[in-house]
Amino acid sequence: MPETGERTELIVAANRLPVDRVVAEDGTTQWKTSPGGLVTAMESVMRDREGTWVGWAGETGEAPEPFTAESGLQLHPVALSAAEVRDYYEGFSNDTLWPIYHDVIVEPTFHRRWWSAYRTVNERFAQTVADVASEGATVWVHDYQLQLVPALVRDLRPDLRIGWFNHIPFPPVELFAQLPWRKQLLRGLLGADFLGFQRSADAGNFVRACRQLLDATSKGDVVLWQGADDGHLGADARMVRAAAVPISIDFAGLENLAKTPEVRARAKEIRRELGDPETVLLGVDRLDYTKGIRHRLRAIGELYEDGDIAPPKVTSLQVATPSRERVAAYRHLRSQVEGMVGRINGEFSSIGGTAVHYLHQSYGRDEMAAMFQAADIMLVTPIRDGMNLVAKEYVTCRHDNGGALVLSEFTGAAQELRAAYSCNPHDIVGLKQTILRAMRDGPGEKRKRMRALRRKVRTDNVQVWATRYLEALEFAPDKPTRH
Ligand code: ADP
Ligand code: F6P
Repeated sequence: MPETGERTELIVAANRLPVDRVVAEDGTTQWKTSPGGLVTAMESVMRDREGTWVGWAGETGEAPEPFTAESGLQLHPVALSAAEVRDYYEGFSNDTLWPIYHDVIVEPTFHRRWWSAYRTVNERFAQTVADVASEGATVWVHDYQLQLVPALVRDLRPDLRIGWFNHIPFPPVELFAQLPWRKQLLRGLLGADFLGFQRSADAGNFVRACRQLLDATSKGDVVLWQGADDGHLGADARMVRAAAVPISIDFAGLENLAKTPEVRARAKEIRRELGDPETVLLGVDRLDYTKGIRHRLRAIGELYEDGDIAPPKVTSLQVATPSRERVAAYRHLRSQVEGMVGRINGEFSSIGGTAVHYLHQSYGRDEMAAMFQAADIMLVTPIRDGMNLVAKEYVTCRHDNGGALVLSEFTGAAQELRAAYSCNPHDIVGLKQTILRAMRDGPGEKRKRMRALRRKVRTDNVQVWATRYLEALEFAPDKPTRH
């Protein structure tokens, strides 16, 4: 195991470290698991490997010293000032890029000051990576917050193998082209040797953007970037492969957790606490407008109104992790969701029979596993989602082959989890029918679907994903020769 501060062979750079530092009122420091799918996936991949994780520790001001996590992983915090959190993280990453990369569900905001902070923070990440990487090391950069890092690292350390993986969708060129800094972002990414995406459609969108906006050429999934905008082959000319490597979860680890007597007992207890209903509908999401929580609540509310379902026989549970709470669109979403839950409960709950249980909190892995096991119908209804690991976690926890997954066709997961009850969340009538079908289908049909879903996640688990990704990076095409 390398000592803290030593140079390492594998460097992961992601906006967040797997843990956030929280300083309690008495001044003591606690480390709490960071939210989101990136951490869920990468935390389990890095547990088995020696490496350094470069990222933000979730608070403003000076960064903590590099340290070793309980898992043995080296964590190397990067500092963000309060203004950078506002302009780089909340602003450019989550109020400019996030909406553009998610079909412009809300309107993106463009500010030159935010772009400037994005560049500055990307430069800081690149410098940190260059400082900690050993000669010829592999650098694995993650997600939309760090799209300039590949080219910046290459400038500082041409000896490194550099990959980037996008956890979210990559938009069609018609949307991407709105970005005033579109060329800089593409050039930043083209500093990598290999670019991984969730779906082949995302990789295709990237290749098309390079062709249309940079006049690059492509052959299959490889972009030939001339290294200059004038169409001539410059000194920085590169061949970069862009392909789909869909992310997954630690199937064995989560299934083992879900099989423990404690989690099984807790699942039963949750059902008792919910009033022993016949059917529990569950939603688990970061409180994000991409997740289709409003569409889901609308469908549930109408099912209660139509009399197709009624508490206490049927109840629903919505768990919403607090997320990006200072961004206006997220505040607005929270008040809309909470208003909807209040209205549904006001009309359809009774004493002893709650229509929608709403929890705006984060939970540990074991409690999540118990909730998944307690749910008869899992509702995953995003308007757009790069993958959606919650869908994969649900089927992993259903080791009894029970339950049913309702899954939006607009998730990356839908391309793999073909045996789910597929839905279009914009079509409320269709969504209601799909929920009812998932409830009313016989146990034989449901078990057949669940077995197929579990087979898929067991086979294409996160360890397989990491191996595939790192192999693709290792065998990525090299620099083109001049002609
Ligand atoms: P995203 O990356 O957009 O947040 P994913 O569905 O891919 O979406 O990943 C979300 C991750 O966060 C999953 O591992 C899920 O179990 C976890 N999660 C979601 N809600 C909660 C919560 N309330 N408490 C703890 N973990 C949560
Ligand atoms: O994959 C999407 C993503 O933005 C990840 O980068 C991140 O881990 C997760 O969602 C949670 O978002 P945030 O880090 O902004 O809380």
